[in-house]
Amino acid sequence: MVRHFLDISRLEAADLRAILDDAHARKQARKGWPQGRADADAPAKDRVLAMIFEKNSTRTRFSFDAAIRQLGGQGIIANAADMQLGRGEPIEDTARVLSRMVDAVMIRANDHEDVERFARVSSVPVVNALTDRSHPCQILADLLTIEEHLGPIAGKTVAWIGDGNNVCHSFMHAAAKFGFKLRVACPAEYHPDLRDLEKGGTWVYLTSDPQDAVTGADVVVTDTWVSMGDQDYEARLAAFEPYTVDQALMDQANDGAVFLHCLPAHRGEEVTDDVIDGPQSLVIDEAENRIHAQKAVLAWCFAG
Ligand code: CP
Ligand code: NVA
Repeated sequence: MVRHFLDISRLEAADLRAILDDAHARKQARKGWPQGRADADAPAKDRVLAMIFEKNSTRTRFSFDAAIRQLGGQGIIANAADMQLGRGEPIEDTARVLSRMVDAVMIRANDHEDVERFARVSSVPVVNALTDRSHPCQILADLLTIEEHLGPIAGKTVAWIGDGNNVCHSFMHAAAKFGFKLRVACPAEYHPDLRDLEKGGTWVYLTSDPQDAVTGADVVVTDTWVSMGDQDYEARLAAFEPYTVDQALMDQANDGAVFLHCLPAHRGEEVTDDVIDGPQSLVIDEAENRIHAQKAVLAWCFAG
């Protein structure tokens, strides 16, 4: 069986825990090393990763490229618009062809179904690097960050404030797999997809009140109010106005609570400067951890 990494909800809890443990171990093992040096076990030696982007990216693009190099492999990056995909070539043909040329494919796509279609015919592992529906790699990096600062994620309480979007969906999937409570505060018209809410099961609590959501929270997370592809900018700014994460809201979370944001951030919208640039914020550690988490994901894929 080819090991795809399409969504956290699709993996076994034990595999996810093992991936996160490997991410911790790989990060520890290379403290102080130059970024270009490969890990001692080089699990991607002689392997090539293709990275396809239909949307903009800074962190995902650089972290996957750094990750495959640190695993001892090589990467090829392409913007979908420059490929024949951008001129309408069927994604299945792209998948069949790339399966003969590379050892794994990472895709950032507009439509989640395109990643599923690619994976259905790909004979090499496919990694979801963000779709309109989910962002599983981000959440592994977030959990790595939380555990570094607060210890095991199991039993912790995480508050999600703002849009019930792709990143929120992956957090909901993770809550059920890793056993943490997720308290989501969204305006009713921007609530998460009910199919993803269901995957979180009883681990997820949904409210429209940010103060309710941060009660008892060890971690407060938010994201942009306007994701790539969203068109209703003005309506969103109006609906989300009560959902800014400011210091007053952080003060209602548990003592020692930390703040996460996948970035890019819009200071003055979903978060104030004092919070994102303040002592509770872990956003730069979180961004760095994309490399370590994705190395563990790729190593898991290649071990299949
Ligand atoms: N957080 C994240 O995925 O960032 P990029 O869009 O810069 O890749
Ligand atoms: N929800 C955001 C995440 C960006 C990393 C988006 O999809 O644009």
